[in-house]
Amino acid sequence: MLLLPVIFSLITFRVALASPTEQTLDLRPEYFNPKLPPRALSSSKRFEGSSDLVNLRYHMGPVLSSSPINAYIIWYGRWAPQQQHIIKDFLLSISPSSGAAVANPTVAGWWKTVSLYTDQTGANVTRSVLIAGEYSDKRYSQGAHLTRLSVQQVIANAVKSAPFPVDHKNGIYLILTSVDVTMQDFCRAVCGFHYFTFPSLVGYTLPYAWVGNSGRQCPEVCAYPFAIPGYMAGGGPSALNPPNGDVGVDGMISVIGHELAELSSNPLINAWYAGEDPTAPTEIGDLCEGLYGTGGGGGYIGQVMRDNGGRSFNMYGRNGRRYLVQWIWSPSLKACAGPNALD
Ligand SMILES: *[C@@H]1O[C@H](CO)[C@@H](O)[C@H](O)[C@H]1NC(C)=O
Repeated sequence: MLLLPVIFSLITFRVALASPTEQTLDLRPEYFNPKLPPRALSSSKRFEGSSDLVNLRYHMGPVLSSSPINAYIIWYGRWAPQQQHIIKDFLLSISPSSGAAVANPTVAGWWKTVSLYTDQTGANVTRSVLIAGEYSDKRYSQGAHLTRLSVQQVIANAVKSAPFPVDHKNGIYLILTSVDVTMQDFCRAVCGFHYFTFPSLVGYTLPYAWVGNSGRQCPEVCAYPFAIPGYMAGGGPSALNPPNGDVGVDGMISVIGHELAELSSNPLINAWYAGEDPTAPTEIGDLCEGLYGTGGGGGYIGQVMRDNGGRSFNMYGRNGRRYLVQWIWSPSLKACAGPNALD
């Protein structure tokens, strides 16, 4: 008698899974390792994880060790709430989850590699990240074209308008520009960058990162591998399907991850980087650009997963989200590492 409702609910569960609109549950996502044409960015500092050539060194500066990292998001331009949710769920997935269990591999497992970086006092990059505030600059206060300096003016405006605080101790500022906003060097040389603000412009020295939505400007550069260079069209491999159905925003996720990892391990550009030139440091994200799984390199992106809707990802986040995020250089393995590694 007691079994009957159980069997009944199992049947409804199976029916729900089989329905074409139900794609949130994968019993067994398929692993695959696509070979794709290289990203169309000439100045890419891609090393494909070869440890002999990498001389990542610590330059005695601080890392973001005080917990939690308070992320203040500036939404510059026009953003749809569903786009904001994809990005916020990613940021909130970095901290080890206290609520509902998330299936492995996780975004928090990915950040674990970043938390292996320490400063000279032995303090690690913190594992917890909060969204401490959001500010919408819907009126494009600095216009629809930004420069590396005017982006600091955007932060200055945001911290001058209460309740967006100056948070010296734990704050990082994340400026996200909508699809219609152009940025100096965007698409040609950068998909995102991080730096710190100047007291003369903002009044304080605050670590920040900028990432733009490349969806209409250059997805084959900055939303790779959800868009690939056009010369391969016709017979060649095709771009991967984005896990959240938004090429521009899904592409931003990996760039946001890359910049946050570097911002945390090198916030004042005097901590962890390779190369002798601090004006062009090669940082822990740069070293693994284009690698998303085991067996990557030489045109392969590495073993990633594909759900039953054909969408590609390599880690899970909160609210049942999936994301495709590049790997990060591990100081202990002296190689690129990620939570979806197949050993
Ligand atoms: C801190 O970093 C050290 C050195 O990489 C590592 O051995 C240790 O596991 C890290 N601790 C935490 C809590 O991440």
